[in-house]
Amino acid sequence: MKTVLVTGGSGFIGSALVRWLLAHTDVHVVNIDKLTYAGNPESLADIEGDHRYTFIHADICDQKTMQQAFTTHKPTTVMHLAAESHVDRSIDSAAEFIQTNIVGTSVLLDTALDYWRDLDGAERDAFRFLHVSTDEVYGSLGSEGLFTEETPYDPSSPYSASKASSDHLVRAWHRTYGLPVLITNCSNNYGPRQFPEKLIPLMILSCLDDKPLPVYGTGENIRDWLYVEDHVEALWLVVSEGMPGRTYNIGGHNELRNIEVVHMICDLMDELSPSSTHASYRELITYVSDRPGHDLRYAIDASRIASELGWKPRETFETGFRKTVQWYLDNRDWWRHIQQGTYQGQRLGLKGVNNG
Ligand SMILES: NC(=O)c1ccc[n+]([C@@H]2O[C@H](COP(=O)([O-])OP(=O)(O)OC[C@H]3O[C@@H](n4cnc5c(N)ncnc54)[C@H](O)[C@@H]3O)[C@@H](O)[C@H]2O)c1
Repeated sequence: MKTVLVTGGSGFIGSALVRWLLAHTDVHVVNIDKLTYAGNPESLADIEGDHRYTFIHADICDQKTMQQAFTTHKPTTVMHLAAESHVDRSIDSAAEFIQTNIVGTSVLLDTALDYWRDLDGAERDAFRFLHVSTDEVYGSLGSEGLFTEETPYDPSSPYSASKASSDHLVRAWHRTYGLPVLITNCSNNYGPRQFPEKLIPLMILSCLDDKPLPVYGTGENIRDWLYVEDHVEALWLVVSEGMPGRTYNIGGHNELRNIEVVHMICDLMDELSPSSTHASYRELITYVSDRPGHDLRYAIDASRIASELGWKPRETFETGFRKTVQWYLDNRDWWRHIQQGTYQGQRLGLKGVNNG
């Protein structure tokens, strides 16, 4: 049986990936996660007892534990998602981003390289290391054009700079040591089980709590939204059929201005869970100071993964979005438990404002 070692499997995309692998393949899944504020065991509570699932509570920066995990579980595939992932938090403090995203990735690469070199024959040929990255490494687009896999790197935030660094390390381990790596750079994900500091869940929960809906700047920034299940399906396709050393961009063909996203949330919430105090949730929209270094537009050219691997997203924003809002309405315990912890929807990332 194949064993897939997933890092960051208790996070938003990682938990969707673990669930997808168990449902759609016959692999054994080993999830390594440090359970930071963003890692949530409740996202995997219903599959905990699955005999094809193993959880290791560990930090990817801990080389000894990583070596033990590789030696014990003998992965055929590594899918590396563990990261500090929130731009606003990276503006407040970059240290954890540098530690996990850069140092942690280098520890995993070294561990994987030692392990891969000791494999022989077919096992060595079949081994793959997938690094999951972001389109934010390419910087900002103007009103025209799309990010391709050849777009030069030009990251703006401490988060995207740390992801860009990790991408360079991954490519270097391929060119220098021949490690069979693949890299994916994807656009903004949305879907169930996303930590409520991110735009879409923050807006849904703020509607439910009758709180202001904070829109950064003028709300004109454009993102290309990708439904999380479309993303994880693409990740499996890339690691199973993609060419080692190659990069694949993944995008949802769903470009929207942030204010359009917020309007859509309000309208859907008006339909599915109307407010008792407001005629429309749009009344709660409040413009706040912009994020420092806020990239204007991201949009992905996903033609390589479409033409070479036959992937295209199943969900449109309308269909994926309805599923997402409904999930937050149906799973209030999941996010109430988060709200009872350290995060209550407060504004993050203000350190760069006024150069503070
Ligand atoms: N969410 C998006 O829209 C998006 C877009 C593009 C790329 N990505 C990338 O996809 C990956 C997953 O993103 P996400 O949104 O699921 O992130 P997330 O913040 O929801 O989850 C990250 C997970 O990594 C774990 N983790 C953090 N530091 C760790 C460490 N040192 N050791 C072990 N585990 C650790 C956390 O506990 C958490 O479970 C990241 O690499 C991110 O950069 C995300």
